Amino acid sequence: MNFELTISPINEIESALELIIVANKNFKHHFVQDKKLLKKVGFLGEQDETCLLVEKDRLYVGVDAINGANVRTAVATAVRGISGTQYKSLKVASYMNNAKCTAVLRAMVEGFILGAYSFDTYKSTKSKRTLKEIIISLEEYHGYELDMEKCAISLNNGQITAEATNFTRDIVNTTPDDCYPAVMAEIAETLAKNNGLTCKVLKPKELKKEKMETLLAVARASRHTPRVIHLSHKPEHPKAIVTLVGKGLTYDSGGLSLKPSDYMVTMKSDKSGGSAVLGIMKAVSEMNLPIEVHGFIGAVENMIGGDAYKPDDVLVAKNGKTIEIRNTDAEGRLVLADVLCYAQQEVQADYIFDFATLTGASVVGVGHYTSSIMGNADLPKDAIITASKSAGEFATKLDFNRYLKKSLKSEIADICNISNTRYGGAITAGQFLEEFIDKEHKEKWAHIDIAGPAFVEHIWGENPHGASGAGVRMMLRFLEKLTKEKK
Ligand code: BES
Ligand code: ZN
Ligand code: ZN
Repeated sequence: MNFELTISPINEIESALELIIVANKNFKHHFVQDKKLLKKVGFLGEQDETCLLVEKDRLYVGVDAINGANVRTAVATAVRGISGTQYKSLKVASYMNNAKCTAVLRAMVEGFILGAYSFDTYKSTKSKRTLKEIIISLEEYHGYELDMEKCAISLNNGQITAEATNFTRDIVNTTPDDCYPAVMAEIAETLAKNNGLTCKVLKPKELKKEKMETLLAVARASRHTPRVIHLSHKPEHPKAIVTLVGKGLTYDSGGLSLKPSDYMVTMKSDKSGGSAVLGIMKAVSEMNLPIEVHGFIGAVENMIGGDAYKPDDVLVAKNGKTIEIRNTDAEGRLVLADVLCYAQQEVQADYIFDFATLTGASVVGVGHYTSSIMGNADLPKDAIITASKSAGEFATKLDFNRYLKKSLKSEIADICNISNTRYGGAITAGQFLEEFIDKEHKEKWAHIDIAGPAFVEHIWGENPHGASGAGVRMMLRFLEKLTKEKK
C-alpha cells in the first residue's frame, strides 16, 4: 500500500474511489455530497458504519467525533468493507482537527494498513490486495500554516507502526508446528540482518550455562528445543535504555496439568508477548529511535511426555530462588522468571517491561480487549496507559497488594508457582514475577498481561479475527514519547 500526501484539493485528485468520513452525524458538511442517497439507504453515520455508493465511487464511514482512535477504527472498517472490490486507488481528506497535531493523520494511515490485513498463509486461494494507492489531501488546511514535514513524519511513523503490528500478527497466527522456538530465533536473526540490529540466540547448552533451569524444565517434554533471543538496537547517543521481555510459548498445552480441549485451542497465541517484542524491535530500528532498546524472548513449547516437568517438582530459578511447582500450566511465569533475571544481568536499563499472555484471570477481570498493567511504581504504569490511549489500545492498572502476595507462599520452597486462592490470578502472577526483579529495578519495571487482546476470535475495530499485535503500538508510543523527554 502506497501513501501520497498532497496539498491539492480533494476534487482535483484523480482516483478510483473517494472515502468520506461523516463526523458527529453532520450531513451538512460540504464533503457529504450524497445526502439524499445516504438517507435512502438508511446510512446514519454512526461510528464504524460504512456505506459504499458504487455508482458514485464514494465510500462513506461514520465517526462519533474526529479523533485518532475513532478515525483509525473507522478507516480500518471502511477498508475491510471494500476488500474484494476492484478499486485500486483511494483519495481522502486529512480530517486533521488541529494545525499542529498530526495524530489523526497518523491514525488514519494506521487504520488503512491494519484494516487491510488478512492472514491467508493456509488458504488455497489468497485474498487479492487490490487497493494499492492512498492519496491524502491536506485541503482542510488551506488557510492554516501547514507543516508538510511534520505530516510526512507522521505518515512514515504510522506506516512503520502498523506494518510492525501486522508483522507481529503474522507470527502469532502461524501454527505451532510452523513456528516453534528455533523458528522464532530465525525470524529474529533475519530481522536483525535486515534492520541492522544485533541478535544473540541462546540454545540449550548456553541456557544450562546461564542456569536457566526453570525455563529448561518447562521446555523439557517438547521435541522443539528452547531458545532465548536477545535483540538490541543501539543508537550512538541514546536518551534512555529500555529492556523488553516477551513470553514466547510457541504452544501451551498446559503440560501435565493438561488444558481441557476447549481451552487448548488458540494456545498458539501464547507466543504473543515474544512476537510483540519482535514487532517493536522492527519498528524501533526502522524509526531509528534515539533509545537503546533490548528485546529478550523466552521461546519455549510446553508439552507432555515421560520427561515432562511435574506438579510437586521444585525448580531453582536463575537467581537461586526455589519454586514449588503445583501446576505446570502456570509455565509462562517460570519462563519469564529466568529471562527477566538474564535480561537484568545483561543490561542495566532505565525501564523494564514484560509482555505476556500470562493469565486467563486477566481476561476474566478486564475482558478481551484490555491489557492489564502491573508493577511496583506508578510512573512506568501510568506512562504505558497514557501511551496506549494515543496508540488506540486499551490498558488498565491492576494494583499489587501484600495480602495477595501471601497466597504464593510455599511450605517447602521459597515460593509456589500458583496462588492458593482462586481469585486475583492476574495480580498474583504479576507478584510472582516481582520476585525475579532485582531491588534496583523494582521501580523501573512494569508487567503487561496481554492475554485478553492478543488473540480474539472475532473482528474488533481495526483488529482482525485472530492475532491483534497487542502491545506493539502502545510500546512504540511510549518509546517515541521517551525520545522527547529530557534526561
Ligand atoms: N497461557 C495461559 C494464559 C492464557 C489463558 C492466555 C487464556 C490467553 C488466554 C497461561 O500459561 C495459563 O495457562 N495460566 C493459567 C494459570 C493458572 C494455572 C494459575 C490460567 O490462567 O489458568
Ligand atoms: Zn499455561
Ligand atoms: Zn501460557
